[in-house]
Amino acid sequence: MNRRVLVFEDIESVSRAAAAAVVELVDASPGPFRLALSGGETPRMMLEILAGESGLGGGKVHFFWADERFVPVSDPASNSGNARRLLLERARVPEENIHAVPVDVPKPPDAASLYERVLMEHFGISGNRFPVFDLVLLGVGSDGHTASLFPGDPVLDERERLAAAVEAPPGVLPRERITLTLPVINSARRVFFLAVGRSKAAVLRGILEPGSPASRELPASLVSPGERLTWFLDRGAGAGLDGVRGGG
Ligand code: 6PG
Repeated sequence: MNRRVLVFEDIESVSRAAAAAVVELVDASPGPFRLALSGGETPRMMLEILAGESGLGGGKVHFFWADERFVPVSDPASNSGNARRLLLERARVPEENIHAVPVDVPKPPDAASLYERVLMEHFGISGNRFPVFDLVLLGVGSDGHTASLFPGDPVLDERERLAAAVEAPPGVLPRERITLTLPVINSARRVFFLAVGRSKAAVLRGILEPGSPASRELPASLVSPGERLTWFLDRGAGAGLDGVRGGG
């Protein structure tokens, strides 16, 4: 796995660079492009920029989510609801290309099981194989979580399931979530992390500084995709990473 750490002036240049990199990968793909989005605040501007890209609405890109909150899609906390408003509706992405976590079910474990079925059917997989996403877009929390994989959570040890229901730590709302498991994220060809703001600088040093061990206490450090991992940071998040920038 090849890793690049790219540092930009601000969130706008991070967003433009990441959007351009997504479009480049989509354009270069000979067939359907399977993309998993994350939620949170950081990717919003990138999603808005992508909404203006014609290549995303033509049916080539299939949209999935790295994690979802167990709330109605109309809820402002819904990752797929926000992606619909910021990108999918504007880019006129066909409904059959949108593979959201089914949240209109009684409990989060039901949603996780149904989402696993969505993944298995779309990727045509069975048994102990994993879907191969062309790209997974991730963020990172100041505690080192990514998707809804939180520090020390037993789900970090999951090696068979594709998706799981988890409960975020107290104070992280909404608490009920569904997340892709690490084996699925690490089966992806590529992962882009987007992180901005000084509040992420300390955790990023813990993840990116040479010699930092991958740790269950920093779930983002456990992400290791097949081909390439790229970090898109602004100066605030990248503070103190002088020796790490650039990429192979
Ligand atoms: C979610 C995200 C989550 C997010 C981080 C960073 O559903 O909340 O998938 O993993 O990427 O919490 O969030 P910010 O971009 O808001 O800092």
